[in-house]
Amino acid sequence: MSGGCRTLLLVFLSSCTGLSACTGDGRSPCSRCDPQLSCNCSHAGLTRVPMVTDRALSLDLSFNNITTVTDDDLTGHASLRTLDLHGNRLSVIHQSAFDSLWSLEELDLSDNQLAALSQEWFKKLVALQRLNLLNNPYRYLGSPSVFYGLIRLRRLAFGGPALEELRRGDLCGVTQLEELTVHANNLSRYESGTLADIWPLGRVTLSLHRPFLTDGALASAVLADVSYPETPMVLEDLHLTGNPSVQPLRESARRRIRHLSFRNFSASDESIIDLFVVMDGVPLSLLHLEDVTLTGEGRWEKANWTDQKSIDEFFVRNVLVLDVYKFTSFLELKFLLTYPRRVSVINSRVFVMPCQTSQLLVNLQYLDLSDNLLTDLTVAETLCERNKTLEELRVLNMSGNALQSLSTLSRLVAKLTKLTHLDISRNGYSFMPSSCSWPSTLRFLNISRTKLTNISPCLPTSLEVLDLNNNDLSAFTLPLPALRELYLSGNKFLRLPSGQLFPNLQTLTIQSNTLNTFGRSDLKSYRRLQTLQAGQNKFICSCDFVPFLQSQLKGDGDVKLTDGEDGYVCDSPLYLQGEPVGRVRLTVVVCQRVLFVSVSCGLALFACAVVCVLLWRLHVFWYLKMTWAWLNAKRSTRHRQRRNDVEESEALLPFDAFVSYSERDAGWVENFLVPELEEPRETGSRPLTLCLHKRDFLPGQWIVDNIMSAIERSRRTVFVLSENFVQSDWCRYELDFSHFWLFDAGGDAAILILLEPLSKDDVPKRFCKLRKLMSSTTYLEWPQEDEGKEEFWRSLRNALKGEGN
Ligand SMILES: *[C@@H]1O[C@H](CO)[C@@H](O)[C@H](O)[C@H]1NC(C)=O
Ligand SMILES: *[C@@H]1O[C@H](CO)[C@@H](O)[C@H](O)[C@H]1NC(C)=O
Ligand SMILES: *[C@@H]1O[C@H](CO)[C@@H](O)[C@H](O)[C@H]1NC(C)=O
Ligand SMILES: *[C@@H]1O[C@H](CO)[C@@H](O)[C@H](O)[C@H]1NC(C)=O
Ligand SMILES: *[C@@H]1O[C@H](CO)[C@@H](O)[C@H](O)[C@H]1NC(C)=O
Repeated sequence: MSGGCRTLLLVFLSSCTGLSACTGDGRSPCSRCDPQLSCNCSHAGLTRVPMVTDRALSLDLSFNNITTVTDDDLTGHASLRTLDLHGNRLSVIHQSAFDSLWSLEELDLSDNQLAALSQEWFKKLVALQRLNLLNNPYRYLGSPSVFYGLIRLRRLAFGGPALEELRRGDLCGVTQLEELTVHANNLSRYESGTLADIWPLGRVTLSLHRPFLTDGALASAVLADVSYPETPMVLEDLHLTGNPSVQPLRESARRRIRHLSFRNFSASDESIIDLFVVMDGVPLSLLHLEDVTLTGEGRWEKANWTDQKSIDEFFVRNVLVLDVYKFTSFLELKFLLTYPRRVSVINSRVFVMPCQTSQLLVNLQYLDLSDNLLTDLTVAETLCERNKTLEELRVLNMSGNALQSLSTLSRLVAKLTKLTHLDISRNGYSFMPSSCSWPSTLRFLNISRTKLTNISPCLPTSLEVLDLNNNDLSAFTLPLPALRELYLSGNKFLRLPSGQLFPNLQTLTIQSNTLNTFGRSDLKSYRRLQTLQAGQNKFICSCDFVPFLQSQLKGDGDVKLTDGEDGYVCDSPLYLQGEPVGRVRLTVVVCQRVLFVSVSCGLALFACAVVCVLLWRLHVFWYLKMTWAWLNAKRSTRHRQRRNDVEESEALLPFDAFVSYSERDAGWVENFLVPELEEPRETGSRPLTLCLHKRDFLPGQWIVDNIMSAIERSRRTVFVLSENFVQSDWCRYELDFSHFWLFDAGGDAAILILLEPLSKDDVPKRFCKLRKLMSSTTYLEWPQEDEGKEEFWRSLRNALKGEGN
């Protein structure tokens, strides 16, 4: 190999490896991008940042096994707005890995293995608004501040199980936030004032498990820096056991916070009492407890001297009471229960709220006891069957309990004279009694997800919103004149209920039923209807329904279908099953059947007529007739021959000649031919017998048969040719049969007489037989002058007498 070749090969090879380097060196592509350029490469088992289109706006790489982000993994992604790397095993991020992400607004690096943060990462992210650094094993944020320069930052979350230290300057550059989340359960050093420069501060969530338990001063310092009256505070993962663990909250109380939430929180009776003591006189309006474990017995009455007048809302969800049987059900909590207007105790295994307790709730307007264990019996106790209670109540939510009797419930709530909203969804009602008593103020009733099978006048006519989703209803015949919204999804309706029942209805939802169809007149009957949701039904895509629905989907008409075109799918006919109605195209064949049939019949008839005319013009009928006659003749000939063989009379041919002539030439035949041949003037010549159709044909027999037998019974056939002959059909038959006879007999059976000069070319082309005969057989010409006539008759007579020569 020459040196030149070798260098060329080397260049080639190196250019190959260079190419593979720039196309990703082992990075797999991810093409799971939607039309909005949002790419979801989550849960894809990736170990490297994949190659994604440069135009991507959002890139989700969460829950992969990515360990590193190199400096060119993300180059070119100048338009990327959201990058999610949550739940990987990231431990290395190159200093300039994010440098090209000028448009990045949201970055999630939570749940990774980043042991240290670098201020280099974020220095070019001028558009960043949300940054999540939670749950990485870094022990401190590091200075200079990693957030320096993030002037747009509005949501920040950092910290994790390893975070030990926060120092002044760590958050330098963070000035105002809508949301701050700090996981600092293991925080052991906090420099006072670290979080104090962030203001305004929208909402702060702190996990301070260990500081609250063991380092009250540290917890106090943190709370002091973030407590403002307008800043809702969420404290997570606290375990309050005794007095010291509650003291840090004094800082918040001093700063008069208004919204305090605890999440994932356990507390003893003592610490709850201490909490109320700490909050004595604080204008706290919302106390929110979620995922709570109460280790005590609910004996909080020791705090009854404290002032909790400002508490307006008391929200509790997912409470676990460790010792349910000793729990006192808040009997002595007048100091706490007299003031709130809203109380929610959700999913907390409440099976009864004693009448005594509900009588304490004199200001209550909103009571949510959803997802508990209430029954008809315990609700009777809760609503104090025989006494007044909850007189101010406007909203009562008992969704998700074990109630079964609508008449019991209606009787119990009838005395709540201000009640407007009642939610008794997800209970065990199966039957609607024929009459009920309700407060006259009731406007909103939710009885969805029960097992109702009927509708009755039990429903109050004052209702404006009625939710009957997910029941077993199939008919609705009750007039509800005030109703504005009706929800009937997930039932068994075959057709829309009549709009006359609901003169004020504006919204109707009837998805997932068994509706086959509905039409303009159905919608017309609803006078005020504005929005309708009727997808996921069993639509019959008829010629009325499809165009109607398509025009509705386009927005024609007063009623808007607001649940998206794709929910409307054909169920039948079979060939359209599963097809979205909006995309169905029904053809004229299906929709205008009568018109289609009549038009196509008309066209077929017209075509037939055209074909017939064509056939007639091309004499096809004549050919067919001929063929048929020929076949017939052939058959009857065979038949006759057989009979003749039997009779052995083949020699007996009664006629010397059959004369075939046109009716127009009858004069010549009768005046000249017949006398000359049958009664010869010349002595010595034998008279010949001629067969003439006029004279010898059997009347009543089919003419073709007659012709056939005439030809057969004659030894010769004489054709008197003339213009007239050519125009006569029958003569042509005769000609044809004689030809076929000639063929069969093999003899010279045909004699042509030319009555007037007629050349072969005067004969139309389709009379090929005649033309053939004229060219193959010599013919006798009828002379115009008298002198030739003697000669003519002699020749003719000779020809007739000649036996096969
Ligand atoms: C990540 O890698 C580990 C082992 O290296 C494996 O067990 C795990 O299933 C991988 N996770 C994903 C999401 O691929
Ligand atoms: C919590 O901090 C201590 C030092 O203060 C450290 O020894 C321990 O490992 C940390 N815990 C976790 C889960 O990182
Ligand atoms: C709840 O808090 C405890 C500490 O009190 C913690 O160990 C646990 O992981 C937390 N649970 C959740 C779901 O955050
Ligand atoms: C009642 O509670 C359920 C479940 O918590 C909720 O979905 C529903 O919206 C509530 N109803 C009212 C009227 O607030
Ligand atoms: C009725 O209750 C169900 C279940 O609790 C809830 O999902 C639904 O939103 C409620 N309906 C209305 C109109 O609020």
